[in-house]
Amino acid sequence: MALYSEKVMDHFRNPRNVGVIEDANGIGEVGNARCGDIMKMYLKIEDDIIQDVKFETFGCGSAIASSSMATELIKGKPVSEAMQLTNKAVAEALDGLPAYKMHCSVLAEEAIQAALEDYRSRQEQT
Ligand code: FES
Repeated sequence: MALYSEKVMDHFRNPRNVGVIEDANGIGEVGNARCGDIMKMYLKIEDDIIQDVKFETFGCGSAIASSSMATELIKGKPVSEAMQLTNKAVAEALDGLPAYKMHCSVLAEEAIQAALEDYRSRQEQT
């Protein structure tokens, strides 16, 4: 069996939603201290809906595929739904990741949660 699923390879080779949202109202950046990989997530939220999401990942192929899939899973969804997103759901949507690569999907979950947290704190300030 191949180490990586076709979906992982597809999202690694053609990652969706790569880039920066200049007028993002939620930004989250997280890193994995062990491998040194970094992920930054930008959210544009209007009327409680994630209208747009983009990411930049400086990391391994699994981290890139995970962030790409994670953005697809939350785009167009209400904030409350995005808050429920787990790394397990991201890995399942990718048809699985090798066990030793599961931490890469955690980075995607954490980046989204950090961006949502940033959005929430900006809301509180206004
Ligand atoms: Fe660092 Fe995958 S090895 S996120």
